[in-house]
This record gives sequence, C-alpha cells and structure tokens, in this order.
Amino acid sequence: METYGELHRAILSNIPDQAWLKDTESRYVLVNEAFIGACGRAEHEIIGSTPEQVWPPDWGKVYMSTDRAVLQSGVRRRYEETRSGADGTPRWFDTVKMPIRDANGSIIGTVGISRDITDLKRSEMELSDSRSQLRKLLAYLQSIREAERTRISRELHDELGQLLSGLRLGLNYLETQAGDPESAQAAHVHMLKELVDATMDAVHRIASDLRPAVLDELGLHAALEWLTESFVQRNSLPCELHVEMSGTQANGLDTERSTAIFRIVQEALTNAARHARALRVVVEVDMRGDDCLLAITDDGCGMDTSRAANGTSLGLLGMRERALMLGGQLSVRSRPGHGTTVSARIPLHGVAMADALR
Ligand SMILES: Nc1ncnc2c1ncn2[C@@H]1O[C@H](COP(=O)(O)OP(=O)(O)OP(=O)(O)O)[C@@H](O)[C@H]1O
Ligand SMILES: [Mg+2]
Repeated sequence: METYGELHRAILSNIPDQAWLKDTESRYVLVNEAFIGACGRAEHEIIGSTPEQVWPPDWGKVYMSTDRAVLQSGVRRRYEETRSGADGTPRWFDTVKMPIRDANGSIIGTVGISRDITDLKRSEMELSDSRSQLRKLLAYLQSIREAERTRISRELHDELGQLLSGLRLGLNYLETQAGDPESAQAAHVHMLKELVDATMDAVHRIASDLRPAVLDELGLHAALEWLTESFVQRNSLPCELHVEMSGTQANGLDTERSTAIFRIVQEALTNAARHARALRVVVEVDMRGDDCLLAITDDGCGMDTSRAANGTSLGLLGMRERALMLGGQLSVRSRPGHGTTVSARIPLHGVAMADALR
C-alpha cells in the first residue's frame, strides 16, 4: 500500500497540471507540486483543509460548490475558470473534477486536474483581434476601391464621353461636306464615324463594368436587372432574376449593403459563366424581415467545396468576407455534377464596418 502511495505521489508530482484528491467533505487528501506552487501554501497547511481555508474566499466558495455538484451528480464535470496569477494578471484554467468510488461503488471523494491554458487563451484572443483587424482593413480597402471605381467610371463617362461626342459631331459635319457619298473621302469619314461609335460603346461598357451608374442612380433592383441582362448577352446563358423587395425596403438600403449584394451576385454569376458549364442560372433576392436573402444557383458541373478555396482564388473568399463584414453569412452548397448554390444572408440594419471606420 505504501508503495502504491509513493507511486501515486511520484506520478502526481510529475504532472505539470495541478492535481488533487479530496474526501467527501472537500478536504484535501493529496495534492501535487504544481498545486502547491499555485496555491502558495505549504503542503501541511493544505492537507486536511477545505478550499475555503486555503484559497481566497470567493474562489474557495466556487470550488466547494463545484465539488458538491460532482458529489451529488456522481458525474464528471469540466469547466473553464479564471483567477489572478501570482503577478495579479488574469490566468485561465481548464478544470476537470470527477468522483472516486470504493469497491462497492460508493463515492468516497473527488479527484481534480486543472490545466493552465492562459497562453492558449491569449493566443486565441490575439488571433481573434488580428482577424477582426484584418476584416476592418479589408472593409476599408474595399470601400476605397469602390470609391475609386466610381470616380474612374464617372470620369470615363463624363470626360471621354463628352470628347467622343464632340468628335462624332465633327465627323457628321465632315460627312455633309464630303460631297459625293461614293467618294474615297466620304468612305473615310464613314469609317471614322464607325470607329468613334465603337469607342463610345467600349467607354460605356468599361465605365459600367467598373461601377454601373444604375446602382447609384436607380438602386439595387435596377442594377441587378442590368447585371443579369448583360450576363445573358455576354454569355448566351439563360439567367432568371427573382426579386422580392418593396420600394420602401429598396430605399432603406445603404450604399454599403447594395454594393455588397451587387458584388456578391456579380462574382457568383462570373463564376457560373467561367467554371460551371451550366445551362441555366437563377438569381433570387428576397428581403425578408430584417435580412436580405440571396441565392445564386446554377445547374452546372459543381465542385468539391473543400478544395475550391486555395491561395490564388479570391472570389469565394471575397464574397464571404463581404457578407461577414456586414454581420451576415455566406455559404456555398455544391457537389461535383450537381450544380452550385451560393446563398447569403445580409442583415438590413446595423452599422456597416466601413461606415464605422469613418
Ligand atoms: N459555380 C461554380 N461551378 C463550378 N465550380 C466553381 C463555381 N464557382 C467556383 N467554382 C470553383 O471554385 C474555384 C474558386 O472560385 P473563386 O471564385 O474563389 O476563384 P476563381 O473564380 O478561380 O478566381 P477569381 O479569384 O478570379 O474569382 C474556381 O476556380 C472553380 O474551380
Ligand atoms: Mg471567381
């Protein structure tokens, strides 16, 4: 028996976690070195005492009540606790307490192990802080990017558009002066007019791709109609748009949210055209209660979602971040051969992250 006692003590002393054994009255029977170090008392003061006698009163009470809970329920309990360390800074512990029984199954005490998880907790907090900082930075960068796109789009449209219109008028005039419509000069002017028209179309297309003016002027619904129509034209792929949104709801949408919804639908449609080899795409936008629900579904080749995210593909990541930044969520449901659905929930209220930074 004595050998067993020594063996127990040797094992206990080598456990880096705090470990103890108590009787049914919560009196310490055996404690290890880590426990003695944490408690800051001599072993002979601890053995035979209760937690209320060896720990500060608040913690002592908590330890007594968790002991009682284990003794009464007869089952193992696990919980996280915080208390100040020797230097006064908070420390976190992961503690397990369980009943010990004699050969007849009667509970004769409790055994406990408490692991100091402060470093893990601090790393978790640092990681979560750094994630939230990154998210804020991304929100800020995206808002700058969007503002830049809007500015370039307007300048392209207004400045270049005006100059090209002037050029077009000049060519009209030259055409009237060219005389014989069959002459080489008239043919040349006609060719230049076609070139100017094509340039005007290109400027218009590039400006709209950068940031469709319709999104700022007529709102999300009109912008989604423009997006799906140009998607059909460019890809010769049928695309249905279903929007459930009242005028009041549409007016209540801020730029941050309508831009995010527009950009998510745009990226999902680009993906459907680039990767899915689909026959049909459906876009659903439903403003329900306090949320805007989005779903973009294609009937294409689908994908293995666990492999889709990699270092070079940023589309899915960007869509998800846009939803998270507004306090929403985004998920991708897909299986090889069974099409893809991108669904998102964007809360309609609350402060958008980029707004909060201004
Ligand atoms: N609708 C879809 N159908 C089939 N595969 C898809 C679909 N959407 C995405 N994928 C797959 O998931 C991958 C990741 O998509 P993601 O949008 O993140 O990147 P990407 O489109 O390849 O590049 P980009 O960063 O320009 O968007 C794609 O490369 C493609 O293999
Ligand atoms: Mg993509």
